[in-house]
This record gives sequence, structure tokens and C-alpha cells, in this order.
Amino acid sequence: MTRKIAIFDTTLRDGEQSPGASMNTEEKLIIARQLIRMNVDVIEAGFPISSPGDFKSVAEIGRIAGDRCTVCGLTRAVDKDIEVAAEALKTAKRPRIHTGLGVSPSHLHDKLHLTEDEAIERAIRAVKLARNFVDDVEFYAEDAGRADQDFLVRIIEAAVKAGATVVNIPDTTGYNLPWHFGQRIRDLRERVDGIEDVTISVHTHNDLGMATALALESVRNGATQIECTINGLGERAGNTSLEEVVMAIRMHGRELDAHTDIVTQELCHASKLVSSITGINVQPNKAIVGANAFAHSSGIHQDGVLKARDTYEIIDPADVGAAGSQIILSARSGHAALRHRMSELGYTFADDEFESIYQAFLEVADKKKEVYDEDLESIVHERERVSKAIWTLDAVQVSCGFPLTPTATLTLVDESGEKHTVAAYGTGPVDAAYKAVDEIVKVENDLSEFAIKAITRGIDAMGEVTVRVTAASGEVYTGRGSDNDIIVSSTKAYVNALNRLISDQREHAA
Ligand code: KIV
Ligand code: ZN
Repeated sequence: MTRKIAIFDTTLRDGEQSPGASMNTEEKLIIARQLIRMNVDVIEAGFPISSPGDFKSVAEIGRIAGDRCTVCGLTRAVDKDIEVAAEALKTAKRPRIHTGLGVSPSHLHDKLHLTEDEAIERAIRAVKLARNFVDDVEFYAEDAGRADQDFLVRIIEAAVKAGATVVNIPDTTGYNLPWHFGQRIRDLRERVDGIEDVTISVHTHNDLGMATALALESVRNGATQIECTINGLGERAGNTSLEEVVMAIRMHGRELDAHTDIVTQELCHASKLVSSITGINVQPNKAIVGANAFAHSSGIHQDGVLKARDTYEIIDPADVGAAGSQIILSARSGHAALRHRMSELGYTFADDEFESIYQAFLEVADKKKEVYDEDLESIVHERERVSKAIWTLDAVQVSCGFPLTPTATLTLVDESGEKHTVAAYGTGPVDAAYKAVDEIVKVENDLSEFAIKAITRGIDAMGEVTVRVTAASGEVYTGRGSDNDIIVSSTKAYVNALNRLISDQREHAA
């Protein structure tokens, strides 16, 4: 049997540090459920002292994880941080405190103003304090990739003696060449007293595009835990991508003497979920989960793949949950073809429900040459949003251009079915439509984020808009909408966010 490599997912902590990726608790819980379904070993759920939202997320994720995975909270090597993390983790059956400090010359001298001996003292104090609260304590040596190796050996040994169960060796700045970093891990294994009794973890960043290589080389040299994120999200250029290391280990497990317990068939779904919640698109040519990861374009490749898939594919798309079907759906497709494709995507419908899905499909197919899986996903999600709606968009028309004043005429339908129509001006067509919505819905809010992306391919692509609105209470609500027309998707997204805000207000009032 090969060595088990624990997968430590930090999408909700380091991943959230990607500019623009902030998530609220509800969104983090959706991702956490998916991580649990995928069988990750550890979820780093947040940095509890950093905000009440992070505290709440750690506590809520601890509650839902049960004994299916370890839930971890990050701290600095500071007493208050550790006490607050311990409090947040009280709900978890398998809590872990992740504590540590910078260990490279630049972190010690410029950031922390500590001597090496003072840093070791601080590490020992932090690990011991954390061990008073939980049995599982991970010590991180931030910027270990640029640390003096002799000092790294000393501080890791001190952390192990103080009671750390896991030692995390990060290449915080993604500076190393893989074989140099691997050599650091090997050296720690050879020189740190007691290291054989703890887990060696690696946390690598992608500043030189080598985060996956750094992690794999570390595994080759004795690491048995990898810290990573879905879609490689994370600070600056991101972290090691979970899907890449998991599939590389699966493919080369014998050579690496390694395996993971990840349910790989869930990888694409996880990727889409994280992308849709954060609004951060995955580049089409991203390994494993990119839209083009299994697309064959040139005639020679298509010919090869049709004769034998493995001429140009090293991974079976089904193994990562990617849709591999060749059925092309268009306006000429009938009910049977649509039903077949939907069921392959995991959607089944009763006959009466299916008819409205089919009609929505025809509407899209009329506007597009080809209807892709993403279009179908979007049709289903749009329908779910509308079915829970308090306000529904019935019509929106805008006039804009140079030198016109952008104007929107808009009709919303309320829960009783009554139609409300207004016209409004704005600084642009979306602003005009939003002002018209405000005039009807009349709920105080502040639009804090607006992001638009094409979720399908081609000039006739469906556009998905994600908006975030902040209520007077300070609570943030996300809304999404999709359509071929970006004014329509923008308006749907705003109405969706306001619906969520209103239904939450009603829940609190009840
Ligand atoms: O990159 C890093 O070193 C980190 C630590 C806090 C583990 O994110
Ligand atoms: Zn990091």
C-alpha cells in the first residue's frame, strides 16, 4: 500500500485572500459541504480572530463537518489569536489550531523584529498554549522556503518538542526550484529530532508557476500532507491547485509511493462551484478543470481521439467529473436528446417540470448555433432562482447610446402576480435598470460589487452577472442572473440579491 497523502484544503482561508474572492458564511458553507463530499482530510475554514465573519464560518463549518474531516483555524503565534480560534473550534469534533510565525531573515528582522532565539521562544509558547485547547496543533514556519536551513531545523524541532502534531513548511513566496525545496524537506527529515512522529505538511505558492511541482517534489522527499486550494486560488499568484496535485498523485502514485482519498469525480463540480461563488473565472486552458482541458480542436487531434481517446488524453474526463459527451444540442434537438444530456449532467425532472425546461432550452437554442452544457446548467440554475423569487423580472427595455440619456423601462411581478412598471434614468443602462428596480422594491441597500462573465462560449455566449449588495444591517447578499442579454442578466442578478435580502429580513422578523 502506498503512503496516504492528506489533502488540506485552504480555499476558505488562503484562497479567500485572492483579491475579490471574499465569501460570506453561507457561501463558505456551500463550499465546505462540497469539500466534505470530496473527502478532503482537513478544511482550513478561516482565521477566527480576523473578523466576526471568519469566526462564525469556522464555528459553522466545525458544526457541519462532524467526524468526516478535521476543521482548522489559523492564528498568529499570539495568545489572543489562539484563544479565539479555540473558542471558534469548540463546535468541531476534530479541531486543529494552525499557529506559527515568519522564520526567514526578512520576516524575523523586518516584519517581526525578533532574534532567532526569541522566535523559537514564541513558537514554543504558541504551540503549548494551543495544545491546552486541542490535541491537534499544526505549526507553520512562514517563508520557510527562504529561511536559513539550520535555523529552520532548530525551530521545527522546538515546535515538535512543544507538542506540534503537524509541521507546515511553506514556500510562502513561491521562490524555490522544486528540487531545492525537496532537499529542504529531506534535510528536515534527516536532522529534526522527533520528526518521524509528526506529519510534514507543505504549503506552496505559485509565484513562478511551480506550486504543484514544489508540492510533488516535497511528497517525494517525505511530506505527507499538501495544502492546496480549488482552482489554485490564493494570495497573489495563488496556492497549489488541489485538482492538479490530486490527479498527478493519482496518475503517478506508484512512482511517488502516494495516494489520496479524494473523490476525483467531484473535482469539476467543485471548481465550478468555487468559480461561481467567488466570481473568479477559471482560465479555459487550466489543467484538469479548464473549459478546454478535454477539448480537441485541430483536425489531427480530433481524428486521433476519435480512433482512440488516449492518443491525446491522459485523463478520462469522467474521472474528474468533466462532461465528455459529443452530443451537439441545437434548436433541432428533441425532448429525448435534451433529457439524455440533462441526466448525464445529474438533472432529472418530472414530465410537467421538464416541459418548461425544454421551452427554456428552445429559447436559448433559437439564439445560439449550439447549446453547451454550461447553457443547460445556467437554464436550471436560473429556474431555481426564479422559483424561490419574491420579485420576478417580467420585462426590461433600455435605450442608451451617444448622446442619449440612458433610460430603462422595467416591469417586476410581485408574489401575488401583480405587475409593477416604472421608467428611470441612470448613468448607464444597468444603472437605469437598477434605479427602476429600486423604485419598485424600495429596500435600502448598497451595491458593493458587480461582476460579469461569459459562462458559455462564442459571441452569442450566455453572460452571468454576480452582484453583492449590503443591507442596512451590514449583512451582504449575493445575487446571480444569466441571459444572453447582459442588461437582462444584470437586472436578474440584482433582483435575485434583493430577494435574498428580503427573505432574510422576513426570517429575522418572524
Ligand atoms: O503562505 C503561507 O506561508 C501561509 C501561512 C500562514 C501558512 O499562508
Ligand atoms: Zn499561503
